[in-house]
Amino acid sequence: MRILVLGGGAREHAICWKLKQSPRVAKIFCAPGNAGIAQIAESVELIPTDVKAVVGFALRERIDLVVVGPEGPLAVGVADALDKERIPVFGPRKNAALLESSKAFAKEFMQRHDIPTARYAVFSFEEQIECRAFLRHVNYPAVIKADGLAAGKGVMICETEAEATHALDEIFTHRIFGEAGQRVVIEEFMEGEEASVFALTDGVDYAVLASAQDHKRILDGDRGKNTGGMGAYAPAPIVTEDIIEQVKKEIIERTLKGLREEGRMYRGVLYCGLMITNGYARVVEFNVRFGDPEAEVVIPLIDGDFAEILLACAEGRLSTVLPIKQFQASAVTIVMASQGYPDSYQTGEVISGLEEFNQKREIEEGTVVFHGATKLDDKNHYLTSGGRVLSVTAVGFAEDLRQTITQAYNAVSQISFNGAYYRSDIGKKGLKAMQTV
Ligand code: AMP
Ligand code: GLY
Repeated sequence: MRILVLGGGAREHAICWKLKQSPRVAKIFCAPGNAGIAQIAESVELIPTDVKAVVGFALRERIDLVVVGPEGPLAVGVADALDKERIPVFGPRKNAALLESSKAFAKEFMQRHDIPTARYAVFSFEEQIECRAFLRHVNYPAVIKADGLAAGKGVMICETEAEATHALDEIFTHRIFGEAGQRVVIEEFMEGEEASVFALTDGVDYAVLASAQDHKRILDGDRGKNTGGMGAYAPAPIVTEDIIEQVKKEIIERTLKGLREEGRMYRGVLYCGLMITNGYARVVEFNVRFGDPEAEVVIPLIDGDFAEILLACAEGRLSTVLPIKQFQASAVTIVMASQGYPDSYQTGEVISGLEEFNQKREIEEGTVVFHGATKLDDKNHYLTSGGRVLSVTAVGFAEDLRQTITQAYNAVSQISFNGAYYRSDIGKKGLKAMQTV
């Protein structure tokens, strides 16, 4: 099998790494990839959202499967275009990717199909007067979200009406989110703890993967700015068997049925971002792709031929590879970021210690480093090239999350670069939940 993976972060490194383990895979291309991914896949200079170029490349290189990492290409219809050429693609069509690319669409979809989520209202730019009136009467805190894709930054939690009005000015008057802020969703604030559940699907059948918890804030104790994610672990004990059953029945199955009824083809992974309140899960958001850094812990726990599974999804025959087994293990990933992230930061810092992480260590110890943003200099040194540089991952015994966390931090301590920053409490929530569950 010849596979093209779109994207170039640690999520895509984890995807390529798992695909590479499949005996059916002859060649992996990754566009644009990064220096770490280049160890196992050929980098391709292609912009993933350039749909024409992606299709052209896939045809020329006789690609058997395209796996889409990020949401951007899906939102502009890369799956539709590949489908038209009969190239199997793991990732939903544009009209289904709306679940992520339009928060207003997602909320209305959830309402149509009775999927548990926070109460909400949608207002367009033209409805500002109504919107401001509405803000006078809602309960606070309230959540204001820009409708479109805003790289995880489009959500504002407002404690008072004054804050909400200010947020609205930012979106509608100062247009801080540009086009993405043409409409806003105003939502009830949900108390609880967040976790995510991933379902691989061909639109009809589905398989639930290990649950995970991300750590979105920059500082320990979930304080400070929001980031793309500073670390994750799986499985998440807060997501009990009962909650999984509820998520299947009330969220995943209703979503897939709704998508089918509305003629929105979904072959890929459905990311259910959940708020768990008193043992009941409601949807915070849907994403139409793997999470990053969640992918770095969820994918290593899949016990099966990843290429075979993703191709089965893409070809609408997931049932032929079910059930998908999971390793009885725990996984932890720690993001090493550049000092200053999520604001501005330096790049081009030399990374040392990566040589220590080889396949032997991976197999014997269960430690693997996924590259998020690296490049090679002309002396073959790895350099930092972005905000989230490395996802340092450990897989260990299921019963001993504490040991898996230690193993991941041990690996982190062997890697260094100027200004390396990471949180020191990744996975602690899991330890706490284990004591109470
Ligand atoms: P989203 O991009 O919709 O996932 O929102 C980003 C983050 O904002 C989420 O991960 C939550 O931490 C928080 N958030 C969003 N919506 C709500 C809500 N209705 N209640 C509480 N927190 C929320
Ligand atoms: N880690 C959150 C996301 O990928 O959206």
